[in-house]
Amino acid sequence: MSMVKNYVLGEGDASPTPANNNSPVHPLPTSWYSSQDIHELERRAIFSRKWLLTTHKLRFPKTGDWLRYEIAGYAFILVKDRQGNINAFHNICRHRAFPVVTEEGGTSGIFSCQYHGWSYGLNGKLAKAPGYQDLEGFDKSKNGLLPIHVHIDVNGFVWVNLDASEKPEISWEDDFKGIELQPRFEGFNFEDYNFDHTSEMSEEYNWKILADNYNKSLGLYAVDTNDGKSTTEEIANRLKIASTYYFPNAAMTVLPHSFFMQRLVPAGPSTCSIRYEVYRHKNSTDEEFEIINETYKRIMSEDKALCGAAQINLHSRTKEEPVYFQSVIRDLITEHHKREEDAEEEIWPARQGIPKEEAVSKEDMDFCSKLTSNDASALTAGGCCGGGCGGGPPTIAATAPETMVI
Ligand code: FES
Repeated sequence: MSMVKNYVLGEGDASPTPANNNSPVHPLPTSWYSSQDIHELERRAIFSRKWLLTTHKLRFPKTGDWLRYEIAGYAFILVKDRQGNINAFHNICRHRAFPVVTEEGGTSGIFSCQYHGWSYGLNGKLAKAPGYQDLEGFDKSKNGLLPIHVHIDVNGFVWVNLDASEKPEISWEDDFKGIELQPRFEGFNFEDYNFDHTSEMSEEYNWKILADNYNKSLGLYAVDTNDGKSTTEEIANRLKIASTYYFPNAAMTVLPHSFFMQRLVPAGPSTCSIRYEVYRHKNSTDEEFEIINETYKRIMSEDKALCGAAQINLHSRTKEEPVYFQSVIRDLITEHHKREEDAEEEIWPARQGIPKEEAVSKEDMDFCSKLTSNDASALTAGGCCGGGCGGGPPTIAATAPETMVI
């Protein structure tokens, strides 16, 4: 069970209790912002286990609406099925691991893999497998898309958890119970907004630098100073702002005219992308929306410059570090590493189970994993099998070799 607070609010509640009050907290060393091994551990210890804020259900108005997402090398699809549920699946065809979708989003009645024509329903079930479906012993029910846990909170925000266990080790409530009911959201009705646009920036720095920056300066974005609530005058002036950082990698700023979701997507030890989703209040005028939109863009652009410079000057980071955020990172990494040492193998919670009948053996994957851990150069190339063995950073591959039908 998660024992730490997983969100940081804007001014008014910006100092959550450290994970361990008896331990001194120190900034993370600079090597944690550039090491490939730490990046891989973060993929296993954090992004494969924690609940990740992803989007809002407003983006799925119709049956069959789907979007493609990616986080730390794991590509997945969110889709609204015929029952109105929002499902998530790894973007990996069960045949030979080709991506099931290659566009950013769309509306479909079925997912059809472009490689050899396997197709899947909106619920992930395998519908057609040309060349296989009539083979004796081939079980369609065991070859659907690989599911990912989804939680929709009371405000309609969509969260995912990549833990491949039937029940994730960390429940959403462990991480975020009550977050959607925070008093600062009073007066905001998320159903009153419409999705407006997305944008993206590719960055040449470690994702934690921007997270540090956000956690350090969150209060700067918030004008609410009354225990998390805006003053009467501010509300009257429609300046109420609620900013929240959701560990590990998301932030959201809610205003009367718009709300902005921001996801930090690690791509490597010193690269990441920032992906924004912007929603607009349905009653806001163009002018009201654009004033806020432009201000937000300016702040993001300033952050980009600051963080780029921070990566270059990592060696001189000395003070005012957001040690709480960093201590949560440290705890998760070291705890997971200890588990791996005890198990004498890497533990990849997002990796799907390997059925006995599948052709790829654990011995083969362990062999590959040992090669990559002995050869640092292989890691930068994604390991000997593109990361499917757990040895490197795949795009589609974190689960791929274990799930192919040969
Ligand atoms: S049908 Fe998808 S990889 Fe062959």
